[in-house]
Amino acid sequence: MGAIDFCQNPSICISKFRPNSRTETHWKRRVSVVASSSVPIKEKSQSGEVARGASFIRPHLQNLKPYQPILPFEVLSARLGRKPEDIVKLDANENPYGPPPDVLEALGSVEFPYIYPDPESRKLRAALSEDSGLESEYILAGCGADELIDLIMRCVLDPGDKIVDCPPTFTMYEFDAAVNGAHVIKVPRHTDFSLDVERIAEVVEKEKPKCIFLTSPNNPDGSIINDTELLEILNMPILVVLDEAYIEFSGIGSRMTWVKKYDNLIVLRTFSKRAGLAGLRVGYGAFPLSMIEYIWRAKQPYNVSAVAEIAACAALRNPTYLENVKVALVQERERLYDLLKEVPFLDPYPSHSNFILCKVTSGVDAKKLKEDLAMMGVMIRHYASKELCGFVRVSVGKPQHTDALMEALKHFY
Ligand SMILES: Cc1ncc(COP(=O)(O)O)c(C=O)c1O
Repeated sequence: MGAIDFCQNPSICISKFRPNSRTETHWKRRVSVVASSSVPIKEKSQSGEVARGASFIRPHLQNLKPYQPILPFEVLSARLGRKPEDIVKLDANENPYGPPPDVLEALGSVEFPYIYPDPESRKLRAALSEDSGLESEYILAGCGADELIDLIMRCVLDPGDKIVDCPPTFTMYEFDAAVNGAHVIKVPRHTDFSLDVERIAEVVEKEKPKCIFLTSPNNPDGSIINDTELLEILNMPILVVLDEAYIEFSGIGSRMTWVKKYDNLIVLRTFSKRAGLAGLRVGYGAFPLSMIEYIWRAKQPYNVSAVAEIAACAALRNPTYLENVKVALVQERERLYDLLKEVPFLDPYPSHSNFILCKVTSGVDAKKLKEDLAMMGVMIRHYASKELCGFVRVSVGKPQHTDALMEALKHFY
């Protein structure tokens, strides 16, 4: 591919056309269906004519279907008639403690907001190198791990290429594959949510997919991938993207440094969970040197904003705070798990993360449960997918959030 610069020919100089900038990241999460089609959507305008706008959209994107939107906090607050601080938000695995106080201080004295940020996020990568023990030339930062998932796909996948996805898992892999025109081969997890490595091997051999997305701990169940499984998959002829968004809560170490040994491994991490910075959008990835140069080339130059970099650096300067928050959340997870086990219609799964997946049993309707709790100001996540029909996921909050949830649940038994 490439671009023709018409402006080099003075006789046909046209102005540059830029599509709309990205819509909100929230929007992406609402899209569940990966079906692609070459049939253009025929939209009618009010006058009855076919709207031209839709015909500009790439055919494989025309059939993406939206999820129910996740509501912004203020909208939710207005809808529930409750102040934001009175909502117990346990539906998006956010870190309720927020970032270290150093972050707000640093953000209050941002020096050069009118200057573009460092396209190489040098300060942040140096701090991440200290934090992870991996040299900064292996590290690239992004606008959340979400951006890096898409960036990797843009660099690796040609339209029609295949990826392996292991549901139930984070749905962005499937979504981004659809946006990038790739096919998704699903290798569902076992009923205990462990990976079906044997089936993955068969699929890799038969379908020749280009990459596989693995998540440890896995969202939504919190299970982790052990070294044996990971090594087995790394030995396959496939690029392995290991998403460690929740690794800090797992009790096992990150595999970031493994990228020095395995040049088919990428490891992704984020500040959203460990440092309570979900709203500022900072993620990072460890890449093999043989690959990272190309990722740099394709990256948007100013993908990490100046404030995002300042915030992430400030967070890393207070490791004691990050550790204390992690310990608090892990302790609360264990308390929450024990309490959920007492609820007669919930069957919680042990988790290595900051959330707990529960099967809703005894004839209770999972969707209604979620909706009724929401009316009481307690937000949890409900699933309706094939693999997770009748499940809910509860994020770990502060002790008072657990108490409020348990009080609300008592209304049901
Ligand atoms: C497994 C997993 N990976 C990545 C992300 C996104 O991380 P970020 O906020 O850095 O984009 C999430 C967010 O919920 C997640 O669950």
